[in-house]
Amino acid sequence: MDLTLIPADVAKAHQAFASALAAAADLDALMRLKGEYVGREGSHAAGLMDLLKTAPKEQKRELGAAINGLKNAWEEGLKARQVELEAAKKRAASLASQWDPDLPPPLPARGAQHPLNRLMDRLVDVFRPLGYHVEEGPETETEAHNFDGLNIPEDHPARGSADTFYFQEHSGQLLRTHTSPVQVRVLKRLAPRIQELGGIRFLAPGRVYRKDEIDPTHSPMFHQVEGMLVGHGIGMHHLKGTLSYAMKALFGPGAEVRFRPSYFPFVEPGAEVDVRCPLCGGAGCRVCKGSGWVEILGAGLVHPNVLSYAGIDPTEWSGFAFGMGVERTAMMVSQTPDLRLFFENDQRFLKAMGGLD
Ligand code: PHE
Repeated sequence: MDLTLIPADVAKAHQAFASALAAAADLDALMRLKGEYVGREGSHAAGLMDLLKTAPKEQKRELGAAINGLKNAWEEGLKARQVELEAAKKRAASLASQWDPDLPPPLPARGAQHPLNRLMDRLVDVFRPLGYHVEEGPETETEAHNFDGLNIPEDHPARGSADTFYFQEHSGQLLRTHTSPVQVRVLKRLAPRIQELGGIRFLAPGRVYRKDEIDPTHSPMFHQVEGMLVGHGIGMHHLKGTLSYAMKALFGPGAEVRFRPSYFPFVEPGAEVDVRCPLCGGAGCRVCKGSGWVEILGAGLVHPNVLSYAGIDPTEWSGFAFGMGVERTAMMVSQTPDLRLFFENDQRFLKAMGGLD
């Protein structure tokens, strides 16, 4: 095509046309390009038509041929690109609307109860038929409920700020270090009605806090389930019978409990309670460290001072209490070697715990 008669700027635009055409990524861009080159007004083609009108007679033939050649090249190029872009648009639309009614739909991820909460709920379910109801105390406690009411002496090391989170020094406010302060709260609340109730029994699951460094078996926040029963003539045999029943309900009919004498200021006598290792059946394994037994509870008969503090006559009433370590029990049952797994909320772990499907 002879471009010598064509104004330089149009000739230059023509040379850029092919790449501008290829760069038009969609139909809108293509329409803009079309306007620019062959539109009725202001386009390169319209400018060329004006040029033709004013051209001297003897140039008209040649110039007209050149202009026609340009316009045809542009129109053909635009048309071909339009066909291409329209086909691509169709393909995309049909892909988007492809719908196979036989395919199973993508299921949304389903949430589920956390394994620690499930274990606590199971324990509550074991005790409910025995007449225990659920109590909850605040995680922010007073020294009076967490220590004083539980017969814990002024100089007991657990009261120190090395073990316990205090809000402000001497404020008397702390994060409870065990669920036992719920004993104090419930006893105080129900003391005036204890005759009419004929006794007290409850379970108190919840979070507790201690200044422990985080490692595979320690966390500054963990869970306990407190249990308490107050009645007439309650003795160690009631405690043993109840815990033995509960552990069988939790771990299966083969479960056995063992009491070892121990000391907690709020019980007398006090005991640490082991269950026969539910994994090896007592033969000895990694979980029970070869001993065949795992300690999961502290327990004992309620100290008379605890009853008196709450306004209950210890010469008439007696009771037992226990506190179970939830993480410890969960780790043992699920063979989880590191309790941090329970708090990291890695979906793969939670799924493996059977909580999610
Ligand atoms: N509160 C004790 C602890 O945290 C456990 C316990 C509860 C012991 C009730 C005896 C009676 O270790």
